[in-house]
Amino acid sequence: MLARMTLEKTTRPLTFLRRGQPVTVGNVPPDRTLLQVLREDLHCTGTKEGCGEGDCGACTVVIGEAVDGKLTYQAVNSCIKLAHSVDGMAVFTVEDLSSDSGEQHPSQEALVQCHGSQCGFCTPGFVMSLFGMYQRYIAPTLPTACGSLPPEGALAPRGGPSALGSGGKGITREQAQVDLSGNLCRCTGYRPILDAAQQMGSLPLPPGCGVDEAVTLAALKSIRPKDQAGDAYLRPATLRALLQARSSHPKAQIVAGCTDVGLWVTKMHKRFSQVLDVTAARELRRVETYPHHFAIGAAVNLTDAFAALVSEYPPLKTFAQRFAGLPVRNAGTLGGNVANGSPIGDAMPLLIALGANVVLMRWDRKRQQIAHRELRLEDLYTGYRTNVMKADELLCWIKVPRAVRPSPQSSPASGRGGKTGRPASEVSSIPLPLAGEDWGEGRTKEGQAFLRVYKISKRFDDDISAVCLAIHMSVAGGVVTQVSIGAGGVAATPVRACQTEAALLGQPWTADTVMAATATLRAEFKPISDMRASAHYRQTVLGNLLQRYWLESQGMQHINLESLNAATLEAMV
Ligand SMILES: Cc1cc2nc3c(=O)[nH]c(=O)nc-3n(C[C@H](O)[C@H](O)[C@H](O)COP(=O)(O)OP(=O)(O)OC[C@H]3O[C@@H](n4cnc5c(N)ncnc54)[C@H](O)[C@@H]3O)c2cc1C
Ligand code: FES
Ligand code: FES
Repeated sequence: MLARMTLEKTTRPLTFLRRGQPVTVGNVPPDRTLLQVLREDLHCTGTKEGCGEGDCGACTVVIGEAVDGKLTYQAVNSCIKLAHSVDGMAVFTVEDLSSDSGEQHPSQEALVQCHGSQCGFCTPGFVMSLFGMYQRYIAPTLPTACGSLPPEGALAPRGGPSALGSGGKGITREQAQVDLSGNLCRCTGYRPILDAAQQMGSLPLPPGCGVDEAVTLAALKSIRPKDQAGDAYLRPATLRALLQARSSHPKAQIVAGCTDVGLWVTKMHKRFSQVLDVTAARELRRVETYPHHFAIGAAVNLTDAFAALVSEYPPLKTFAQRFAGLPVRNAGTLGGNVANGSPIGDAMPLLIALGANVVLMRWDRKRQQIAHRELRLEDLYTGYRTNVMKADELLCWIKVPRAVRPSPQSSPASGRGGKTGRPASEVSSIPLPLAGEDWGEGRTKEGQAFLRVYKISKRFDDDISAVCLAIHMSVAGGVVTQVSIGAGGVAATPVRACQTEAALLGQPWTADTVMAATATLRAEFKPISDMRASAHYRQTVLGNLLQRYWLESQGMQHINLESLNAATLEAMV
């Protein structure tokens, strides 16, 4: 009790926007979740608690943040989001969407019209995911800007004037499935909900149901968080300040998106007296592109980090969409996945296969400057969830080799040569490689690398791997000239399959070589049996995946997930 009172004294009041108006809550402990603040402190019980671990989506809210002068919208799970992480942001909940006179936002009205709700427990979460989609895909295409709304409200004040008619870009079935992958419904069935996602763009936006972005952006400026030195929840805005805070508070709990740490709070009931949040450090929120590699800041969320990876390596698209569900990808970071070092984490096998390095940084007190060291990703880990990071170090960058290196003739002025740092929100516009793998046919090409990553889990969507295998190989003159293989779910840490690589390198790329390497791969690791899979299953599947890679390298694309689209899946049920 005494400890709790001490915590409450040392946290600053937390301020965020609701309907364009600042809401301030005092005495919020550093480890209190956003859902607890909404439901218990603000008595906004529209946002539901289902699982309390980021799985069901009943607690989904949308976070609005100013990024490069624009408002971004991210659906996240409030049950595992620490409340102080939204300090200075806009929070939209299901209570914020309808107008004063009770008219529903299109995201709500579409669910009604399509019969997308039965018991209704999941419905607030679905509405918020739909609202996030509406703001990203439909609102920007509407004919009239929301600027005509009165200035007081971000969501227009209840009963305000109508600004918009119907319209908006269509949302495809596939997009709806991806964006709703973090919301579970036990009774309605998903077809009507997907119908609603596709229908909401054709519904009119009633008076008082729009977001005035200019007003919201101005309001966000007025609540920008001040320096928090000494606070129980530290969220420094620069890399230097972050590393200095790490050096001064080595015992503070580091958090990024909190999609792992949040469960330690809600499920393991851990308490943190001080938290150091890395996600505001602006340098770490960028993806920087260089001639030979691109560097993903540790605070770039998984959505943007995978956009950068897919942009460079297009076959990763399906794999990227199978990492958790959208709300977890919006909150969680690539840095958090790597630093957490779970043996069943998905990014690491891929990053090992791509030959990625990590950059660790610390504040050198003696020299009063930032010091850093770089190592291969697989060398970060020393054992089950342990790593070489020192008490004052942070993981800051993940450096990934590019798929296609620029030719010596290419000019830096063309935009493809020099360093092109860009905010993570823009990474999807990084141009695709001009040449490279024959992704279309999916067959290995002379001298060119062929990349595949396979995730085996019980559910297709929103599930953790039992086994993950990533293979990156080049073949020239019929012989394997380069190969790197990363594996997950088979050892205490994410690992590199060095023995299997040795069994393949310099060998002819034939079925016989593959069969021999399959035996090596199955014997290389001693996986454990747990609730996800038995050791025997894991070893068997590992070898099977190498054989699948061989078949795909021969052009058998129909056996992979990319050949399954929304239409074929619906036809199967
Ligand atoms: C429903 C659900 C589904 C999931 N599905 C998947 C999945 O499919 N695949 C998968 O791999 N994972 C999955 N996860 C796990 C989780 O989302 C990922 O591991 C995520 O990348 C963690 O990132 P984060 O930013 O949330 O990390 P956090 O939870 O904030 O931190 C995780 C750990 O990393 C440390 N840390 C974070 N950033 C740094 C840094 N910069 N320097 C040093 N230490 C740091 C923290 O101290 C903590 O120990 C899932 C989680 C949930 C809740
Ligand atoms: S309550 Fe289930 S995801 Fe938050
Ligand atoms: S309507 Fe009952 S869980 Fe979705």
